[in-house]
Amino acid sequence: MASLTLYFHILSLFLCFFFSSGGLLKMVTAQRTWCVANPTANISTLIGNLDYACNRIDCDLIQQGGSCFYPDTYIHHASFAMNMYYQAMGRHSWDCNFKDSGLISMTDPSYESCTFQSGGHQSDNGPTMAQNSDASATWCVAKPGTNNDMLLLNINYACNHVDCTPTHGGGACYNPATLLNHASFAMNLYFQSNGRNPSSCDFRKTGLIVTNDPSYGTCTYEYSGYRG
Ligand SMILES: *[C@@H]1O[C@H](CO)[C@@H](O)[C@H](O)[C@H]1NC(C)=O
Repeated sequence: MASLTLYFHILSLFLCFFFSSGGLLKMVTAQRTWCVANPTANISTLIGNLDYACNRIDCDLIQQGGSCFYPDTYIHHASFAMNMYYQAMGRHSWDCNFKDSGLISMTDPSYESCTFQSGGHQSDNGPTMAQNSDASATWCVAKPGTNNDMLLLNINYACNHVDCTPTHGGGACYNPATLLNHASFAMNLYFQSNGRNPSSCDFRKTGLIVTNDPSYGTCTYEYSGYRG
């Protein structure tokens, strides 16, 4: 009898702790998040973000010899540093803002030998609530570490199904004229035209589902979710 009472005490203590600590909520929102640079960011923005983040966190892994040195591009190095900063600061939406050049990713951006760490879910309802009428809005972009061969494959594949003319010379999404931007535009349009089914942003593990709109200036990264 005594041991049964003790059992119920322990059980109720556990349940109290579970609910008061938001246990259920945490289980539902346990989605890990990362921060990457927007594929539409220009070089000067990326360099600014690298300097800012690397003054505050350890950027050894993107130095020569580090596991995240390759590909040796600003967008990959900046993304790595921005993610380290976002994680270190506690994953608030503003920790991945970088003057509107950061995207919060629900997919792990790790690629080949380079690991992007994540300590957990986003700490607030920031960008999705503020920027979009639909809090569950998502877009698809290429992982910043994706090699050019894969980016070209993704462009060829997606542009067979969707209209990629905005990324052609003179188009609204031509600049920055990088494979990463052009591939991301095409991958997003493919993702949107497939009802934002997560598998349509896979692209052999080179796609990221992000929760901020990558659109900039006159270039629109389509979002198919708004209805009415
Ligand atoms: C880069 O982008 C930033 C932010 O959009 C802008 O203020 C800046 O003028 C751009 N710089 C260049 C060289 O295009």
